[in-house]
Amino acid sequence: MIPRAIPITANDPAFPPYEVLVGSGLLSDLGPTLANTLGADRRAFLIYDRDLPQEHVAEASRSLAHHGYAVSSAFGVATETEKTLDSAERLLEEVAITRHERRDPIVALGGGIVGDLAGFVAATYRRGVPVVQCPTTLLAMVDASVGGKTGVNLATERGLLKNFVGAFHQPALVVADVKTLATLSDRQFCAGLAECVKHALLSADCGDADLLAWMASTMPRFLARESEALTDLVARNVAVKARVVRDDPREERATSDGSGLSRMLLNLGHTFAHAFETLPGVAPLDRASDTPLLHGEAVALGLVAACAAGEHLGMTDPETTRLALAALTAAGLPTRAINLPPSEDLAARMMHDKKVAQGKLRLIVPTGPGRCTIIPDAPHEAAIAGLDAIRA
Ligand code: GLY
Repeated sequence: MIPRAIPITANDPAFPPYEVLVGSGLLSDLGPTLANTLGADRRAFLIYDRDLPQEHVAEASRSLAHHGYAVSSAFGVATETEKTLDSAERLLEEVAITRHERRDPIVALGGGIVGDLAGFVAATYRRGVPVVQCPTTLLAMVDASVGGKTGVNLATERGLLKNFVGAFHQPALVVADVKTLATLSDRQFCAGLAECVKHALLSADCGDADLLAWMASTMPRFLARESEALTDLVARNVAVKARVVRDDPREERATSDGSGLSRMLLNLGHTFAHAFETLPGVAPLDRASDTPLLHGEAVALGLVAACAAGEHLGMTDPETTRLALAALTAAGLPTRAINLPPSEDLAARMMHDKKVAQGKLRLIVPTGPGRCTIIPDAPHEAAIAGLDAIRA
């Protein structure tokens, strides 16, 4: 299968263009693919996911080594609590002892946590070396690996502040090998579908108005992990994200209008999700409470909350909410949770989200099929209505 190539560009000269390659079996050609983009005869430092099947790590390393790269590697971390400055420092030291030079790439092989961490290491090592993102989860393929956000969490007495330390550092290349999705657990795979539903809820302004309907009709093929369907799914979702990032690469636009889209749209569901995703005990209605929520599961609940908040404000039509709920349910994602703290407490936590500006709660809500809007100063009651809607 010839890989699909989605160009990522930005209306900003500081953000060089790059491509996202999507297809099955791409890791076995990682060496020539990288050589084509960056040139061979250099070092490559591979930061891989400790939980990734060894066959994927070996395949990528072998291909790099066979095509002129001197390969060194280290594992990244697997959890948000470990995605810290300490972990970045450990990796920076490991990179430094290989005498890695400014032109040598760091290759991130894993899910969003590894991609964020490796991207941050690449952004800061000697003030920046190229990073090649090789996402191996659906969530990382359609979201985290694209758009140049890198970072680590900050552990404070207020709790874990997600991605509070970071940098924009665009990848030189993204290689999404959908073959790696075959070994992903059902739970991790479905969590990635939440970001796809998010994209589908805002895709009309990105030139793909049919995304939600197509996803609904193709869902059984995604769940069966059919390569062609997954390639289409990743490519269409990356194209939606690319369209948003093009207009607002640094997330600086406060509104989306005729002059361009705001990257804040991609936070749909996330301000709600961030308020509860790291709280112990919060779990989908049908699951034991001792397994923490995955980010994608929290986003699924956040999307439901965003629809309910939009309905409370009279901005989201109930049919849009119904279609969103149907897509999330078909994707095996939660729409209600147990053990949520009182909505007033969660609304207070939302006010500490890093997206809050000047004490105003900014919410993104769906308005109609494939369209969302940004509410810069959302009323407290809308947040409460959203949170009440996901309480089991
Ligand atoms: N994940 C949201 C963004 O990249 O802006």
